[in-house]
Amino acid sequence: MLSLADVEDAQQRVNEIARHTPLERSTPFSDLTDAEVYMKLETFQRTGAFKIRGAANKIGTLSESDKQRGVVTASAGNHAQGVAMAATRAGVDSKIVMPEYAPVSKIKATRSYGGEVILDGVDYDDAQARAHEIERQEERKYVHAFNDERVMAGQGTLGLEVLEDLPAFDTIVVPIGGGGLISGIATAVKGHLDDVRVIGVQASGASSAAASVEDGEIRELDSVDTIADGIATRAIGEKSFEVIQQHVDEIVTVSDETIALAVTQLLERSKTLVEGAGAVPLAALLEGAFEYDSGERIVMTLCGGNIDLNTLTTIIIRGLVQMGRYLKIRTELKDRPGALQGLVNVITGFDANIYSVSHDRTSRDIAVNAADIELELETHDRDHAAEIVAKLEQNGYEIDILSWVTSGCWLWATGLSPYATAYRFWESCPRATPHVQPGAVQPCGDLSAGMGCWTRPSELPHPTHSPLSRFVPWGWGLVPIYG
Ligand SMILES: Cc1ncc(COP(=O)(O)O)c(C=O)c1O
Repeated sequence: MLSLADVEDAQQRVNEIARHTPLERSTPFSDLTDAEVYMKLETFQRTGAFKIRGAANKIGTLSESDKQRGVVTASAGNHAQGVAMAATRAGVDSKIVMPEYAPVSKIKATRSYGGEVILDGVDYDDAQARAHEIERQEERKYVHAFNDERVMAGQGTLGLEVLEDLPAFDTIVVPIGGGGLISGIATAVKGHLDDVRVIGVQASGASSAAASVEDGEIRELDSVDTIADGIATRAIGEKSFEVIQQHVDEIVTVSDETIALAVTQLLERSKTLVEGAGAVPLAALLEGAFEYDSGERIVMTLCGGNIDLNTLTTIIIRGLVQMGRYLKIRTELKDRPGALQGLVNVITGFDANIYSVSHDRTSRDIAVNAADIELELETHDRDHAAEIVAKLEQNGYEIDILSWVTSGCWLWATGLSPYATAYRFWESCPRATPHVQPGAVQPCGDLSAGMGCWTRPSELPHPTHSPLSRFVPWGWGLVPIYG
């Protein structure tokens, strides 16, 4: 199994090629979380991610004859760029197989670092098969993205750097894809600090490590689905699994919504561009995914900043939605002069900026004398957005909220008729819906009724406590709430 000596042995080789990246205390995130939060800014690494560390160590330990034959790998992302640059700097030829769909920006970057890019196959598995074919035919050394102890040791030098800059800390939070990075870091920090906690974070749509640790054997997912493409891995490696079982204290998962929020918050509060995979440590803090003490020294490993600009645009919008800073609504208006003005007047009273208005009177689904209106608004926060919606509803507009996303809240409902009584209750995501008072209980009329009727599950009244439930059939249900 990987040892501290392996990681320490890698440091010299990694230092020749990679940068020692900054470690900074974050005042906004420390204030927000009531912890001492540090950011390991690996986004400033050469190629924009930590991957160059593992590649530098692997290539640096090859024999001269292996170096002459060159290396090969398959990757659609950061590993491709790391191998290309580490090989070029070591004077080694590299062939990188990328799936045909790989983003043009990543293909160009890999080429610019000196790698020969071969586009083959529709996905990573196809690219990997072709890379192994090249490995056999040309006797090149294959540089695995994570399941290789030299690669894992190289990634672990990131942990040694953190220790150099902050000799004592309590917790380090690390993203997990195939598990190479966390294996190296955990080996490094646990080798030096007795009581340090290592917490792994995965996207909930790609949580193979969490499932594997729970079951005690590697679980391969049929498919993965997350905006954090750097950690969209179907299975962790056997070598990393061994280290994770031994050294990782807890693995948590975070939703894509919180990942988007974390990317946006890092941009806004720290002026730092971090890709989805690199932002999951902050997402875990924001989601309250693991417990910590007040004042605990927590290091977030922000391990990559390579994000496609189109993806960034989507992520920023989703992050703004989470913060309540972007609201998209639809309503129907009578198609007559002044109707739109009336709607805009209500919004103007709330000092919300209107980004866009779409006015459709030709859709099949609306009455002949009506118009369908969609508005995109810049709002201050969730309370502000909720106030605007409430005011519009008070003024007789029927509002569909198109932008709000699930926030871990659930609906309890009784009855099937329009008179049914409904309660929504507050479950797990306090920061996502700050306008809600946890514990407040209030009937909210029929199922289509608006907001503001929240309680904790344990405080939920029995349905028969509701006067209406004597007259209507009732039942329980757990339904995700959009709001
Ligand atoms: C930015 C970023 N973070 C985290 C990871 C996960 O690393 P590992 O596969 O070693 O767990 C990757 C992997 O490509 C990545 O690119």
